[in-house]
Amino acid sequence: MSDIASESSRRRTFAIISHPDAGKTTLTEKLLLFGGAIQMAGSVKGRKAARHATSDWMALEKERGISVTSSVMQFPYEGRVVNLLDTPGHADFGEDTYRVLTAVDSALMVIDVAKGVEERTIKLMEVCRLRDTPIMTFINKLDREGKDPIDLLDEVETVLGIQCAPVTWPIGMGQRLKGVVHLVTGEVHLYEPGRNFTRQDSTIFPSIDAPGLSEKIGEKMLADLRDELELVQGASHPFDLEAYRAGKQTPVFFGSGVNNFGVQPLLDFFVDHAPPPQVRETTTREVAPQEDKLTGFVFKIQANMDPMHRDRVAFMRVCSGRFEAGMKVFQPRTGKPLKLANALTFMASDREIAAEAFPGDVIGIHNHGTISIGDTFTEGENIAFTGIPNFAPELFRRARLRDPLKLKQLQKGLAQLSEEGATQFFKPLMSNDLILGAVGVLQFDVVAYRLKDEYGVDASFEAVQVNTARWIRCKDAKTLEAFRDKHAMNLAYDAADQLVYLAPTRVNLQLAQERAEGVEFLATREHA
Ligand code: G4P
Repeated sequence: MSDIASESSRRRTFAIISHPDAGKTTLTEKLLLFGGAIQMAGSVKGRKAARHATSDWMALEKERGISVTSSVMQFPYEGRVVNLLDTPGHADFGEDTYRVLTAVDSALMVIDVAKGVEERTIKLMEVCRLRDTPIMTFINKLDREGKDPIDLLDEVETVLGIQCAPVTWPIGMGQRLKGVVHLVTGEVHLYEPGRNFTRQDSTIFPSIDAPGLSEKIGEKMLADLRDELELVQGASHPFDLEAYRAGKQTPVFFGSGVNNFGVQPLLDFFVDHAPPPQVRETTTREVAPQEDKLTGFVFKIQANMDPMHRDRVAFMRVCSGRFEAGMKVFQPRTGKPLKLANALTFMASDREIAAEAFPGDVIGIHNHGTISIGDTFTEGENIAFTGIPNFAPELFRRARLRDPLKLKQLQKGLAQLSEEGATQFFKPLMSNDLILGAVGVLQFDVVAYRLKDEYGVDASFEAVQVNTARWIRCKDAKTLEAFRDKHAMNLAYDAADQLVYLAPTRVNLQLAQERAEGVEFLATREHA
């Protein structure tokens, strides 16, 4: 096997999906503990404090450094290299989450044992389904009373439409929690409150028949367990690697994140069975990870990560080949070469300069405004990875400047913050307005705050008569010109200078569409 093939096969790149408060942050922290990135634990905690303050952007901003370094976390485990990509918690950041999910090879779904399948989990699951992303499930907070485990599996199967294959099974719950049985190895892992907090492994019995177990958990509980296991084995599906890899079956684990219980069996199973980087689609061909030429795509951009340095970082997922520090790459969208000097990796808690990276890894590229979300990088080949969505904003506001002399800074700020993809910035053809579109209303507060803090611009956002946006595509130059002349009042350029139709009402949009033959109105702009 080539270096690239063997490094690629060691990579496990995934994201955790869950409804807020199910325990994603806590579980992340424990996974990092197992990965030896112990210092991280504290920072993840800090990030969580920040997330709870999303209504107060100032507080969020204070924690910024922390939230950013944890956006990609790489750690070694049992001969594998695990890349955990963070997904933002707040619902207003949903778009970011979708794009992060395009950059992973699998996902881990966390469910609160008392709450079961919640609304945001359903949404995220729909996104995973678009690409048949393999999913493992962790049912959390077993130290509390919750729903009956069999009912929970049933709920996952019916609500999420995915087969469940329990890999661990709980022995009791809440006050009566005694441990879990591993249905594949047969081992019993005991729950010892207070003890499972640290890395320390739990006491393990080789099977439910092992001597000494009944003293630990009690005769009655053991008898009940035997009955229950019989029932579970009859009623559920055995683990099937192929079905899991195809996104049709989810292996299910039970545990308690905060007590670090049940996490190790999950992680062990994960690194053994979760998929390494897979073949990916481009506009012209499929790219296999073991190919020797570097390819990758940008799924996230973050402006001013380090306020001291005003940097903007583009996060690129490596899809094939080997990245080496200082190498030159080609950017098909612009047709230009780019030197990847000082690219960053995200080892443990610190951003570091990357010497090498392999398929599945994420590197941070310094962006000077020439990189957009969705951009592909290659060693010269003219291809573009597909499937990285850019959602049409649903809310629009006009930027109002308190100090008219700051117009330049305002434009620059709006353009740079739009690169991150959470907001989009439009310049109408016929006016000097600057219009910002967003998917969630919180984004306007965030942008106003960051304009002031990062660009020294005092701006507010006011209502504007725009209901929806559509990207215009037209193959014929003449038709396009006629369309432009006719609809100049409603047309604008976005930050990437693409033509966009800003419709004041749904009816207006419908009429414009009906009357413009040969012109396509696209709800999302998939970056070409
Ligand atoms: P999130 O990132 O998915 O939003 O969830 P997070 O990890 O922040 O966990 C949400 C709350 O659930 C936290 O409590 C956390 O301590 C708690 N939690 C996580 N795992 C478990 C578990 O296994 N058992 C129990 N009983 N609780 C768990 P909090 O009160 O919001 O914060 P904290 O002050 O306790 O940290």
